[in-house]
Amino acid sequence: VENAIKAALITYQYRSRNGSEPSSESITSCMENQAPGSPNLSVISFYGGFHGRTLGSLSCTRTKSIHKIDIPAFDFPATPFPKLKYPLAGNEKENRQEEDRCLTALEATIETWKTKSPVAALLVEPIQGEGGDNHASAYFFQQVREISEKHGILMIVDEVQTGGGNCGRYWEHESWNLKSPPDFVTFSKKMLTGGYFSAPGHGPKKGYQIFNTWMGDPHKLVQLEAVHEVIRKENLLERVAETGDYIHQGLLGLEQKFPKMMRNSRGKGTFRAFDTSDPRHQVILIEKLRSKGILIAGSGTLTIRIRPTLTLTTQHAKIFLDALEICLFEMSS
Ligand SMILES: Cc1ncc(COP(=O)(O)O)c(C=O)c1O
Repeated sequence: VENAIKAALITYQYRSRNGSEPSSESITSCMENQAPGSPNLSVISFYGGFHGRTLGSLSCTRTKSIHKIDIPAFDFPATPFPKLKYPLAGNEKENRQEEDRCLTALEATIETWKTKSPVAALLVEPIQGEGGDNHASAYFFQQVREISEKHGILMIVDEVQTGGGNCGRYWEHESWNLKSPPDFVTFSKKMLTGGYFSAPGHGPKKGYQIFNTWMGDPHKLVQLEAVHEVIRKENLLERVAETGDYIHQGLLGLEQKFPKMMRNSRGKGTFRAFDTSDPRHQVILIEKLRSKGILIAGSGTLTIRIRPTLTLTTQHAKIFLDALEICLFEMSS
């Protein structure tokens, strides 16, 4: 994410100079961290978004204070991400209004910051994976893309959590049917190493502009190739869809049995979640599930997130659902 932000800023400046070399004033002023060499530009992200803990990405992270406290931040804008009603099917009208509200806020913020610190890049997760498993529709992301293009802002889709297969496809942004692909896509987790890929022409313009000691640990690519081979040979993306559906049906059944304890089951593939009734219950349920051998975590203040391996089968999912049922029963009695 850190390098994708840098590449976006480099591309933005390259474009604004029409491809010419930086001025000599820029070359000297950047050594004093001053404009024009260190330009007054910003990166916009969404409230509830998580983009990492390194210095630049941390300024775009808007989940929990524990990640940010005591660390100086860039003065970057944030804007609301839709808070949709679940199930998505059946709440389309209200959800569209909520998405339009957020789109209006996004464009207003971009306008306001034009005089303060123009927005050069926009960072967004396909599903807010630590901020509460918040979803948005393809329509929302299509509009975000249009707004980014209209204002010459580079769009970075953060697929660190959603990429690599657990949503049932390699890249979740492919489900949006964008007219033009995002400028940058970041990945890690299921992809073994951390990195980004970019649209043609968005690479660094000179050697060492995007560089570090290990350069993403290239040997991980050899491992990733083997992982990819297993995903392909064993049809793991199909398995993800089947197991994900099984988990979803199981969660819906438990919602009916324990309506006071859980609601809003949602997700794609095996990237699943549900809400507990209050933050205390979230903590207790995670502890109880872990004590029964289920490795699970929270998302936001109410949500339980499910992020299994791609090899999970329906038999494994049944073990999880049975354990969850026992925990909910113990908590409600
Ligand atoms: C959506 C998302 N982006 C980026 C990151 C990377 O964070 P970091 O660079 O701190 O490991 C994570 C890690 O959990 C993530 O979930």
